[in-house]
Amino acid sequence: MDEAEWATYLSLQQAGPRLSAHNGVRPRPWGRGVVEEPVLEGSASAGALRDLLLTRRSSRELMYPLDLARLHALLGVVLGAVPGQPGRRRYPTSGGCDELGVLVVARSVGGVEPGAYWAASHADRTLHWAAPLDARFARFEACYAPFLGMSPEKPPAATLLIFAAWERLSARYEHCVLASALWDSGALLQTLTLAAGALDIRACICACIQPVLLEAWLDLSCREVGHIGTLALGGNEPGEIHA
Ligand SMILES: Cc1cc2nc3c(=O)[nH]c(=O)nc-3n(C[C@H](O)[C@H](O)[C@H](O)COP(=O)(O)O)c2cc1C
Repeated sequence: MDEAEWATYLSLQQAGPRLSAHNGVRPRPWGRGVVEEPVLEGSASAGALRDLLLTRRSSRELMYPLDLARLHALLGVVLGAVPGQPGRRRYPTSGGCDELGVLVVARSVGGVEPGAYWAASHADRTLHWAAPLDARFARFEACYAPFLGMSPEKPPAATLLIFAAWERLSARYEHCVLASALWDSGALLQTLTLAAGALDIRACICACIQPVLLEAWLDLSCREVGHIGTLALGGNEPGEIHA
C-alpha cells in the first residue's frame, strides 16, 4: 500500500457522520434512484431474492444471545467452498480470490466461550481461538459502541471483524490497494447481511474501523493485516418466533 493510501486508511479511525444538515445541496442526476419493478414471473429464486431484499433490515437491538448453529450456518453459507471451483468465493471479490479474514467476536453465543475466533474460510466449521475479550478489547469496544448507539451493558451478541491482507492485495494492485479491500469488504458485508436476513439473524453493518486498537489486542501488525469492516450480530428476543 502506498503512503497516501496508508494515511487515508489510518484516517478512517476518526471517521464519522457529519451532524450538520445538508440544506441547499443540488439534486442528484439520478433523481431518487428508485426503479419501477416489473412483475416477476416464472422465477421462484428471483422472487425469493426479492422477498429477502424487501424484508432485510438493519437492527441495532443486538444484545440477545445468538445460537451457535445459526452462527455456523451464516459463516458456512457465506464462507463455504464453491463446489468444483477451488479458490472461488461465494461473495464477489475484486481479484476473485479470498483476500479477507473474518474474526468472530463471540460475546453471547450459546455454547461458545466468550472470546475472539478466526472463522475458517472453507468447509471446516471450526472457530479458531484468537484472543480473550480483555481490557485491550474493551478499548476497541468503547470506540465501537457509539457507532451503533449501544449502551455498554448491551453489546452485540457477536461481531464479525473483517481483515485484509495488504501484501497479497499489493502484489496485484497499485494505488487501489485500500480501495480494493473496501470494495471486497462491502461485497462480503452485503452477502453476510443477506444471509443473516435469510437465517433470521439480526445484523447491522458498522462504519467503525480501528486498525491500531485491534492490532494491540490481537497481537498482529496492521501494516500486514488490517481491519477493514465490521458487522454486528444478535439473536432474537426470547419468545420471538423464528422465521
Ligand atoms: C457501509 C455501511 C456502514 C454503516 N455504518 C453504520 C454505523 O456505523 N452505524 C449504524 O447504526 N448503521 C450503520 N450502517 C447501517 C445503515 O445505517 C443502514 O443500512 C441504513 O440505516 C438502512 O437501513 P436498512 O439496512 O434497514 O435498509 C451502515 C451501513 C453501511 C452499508
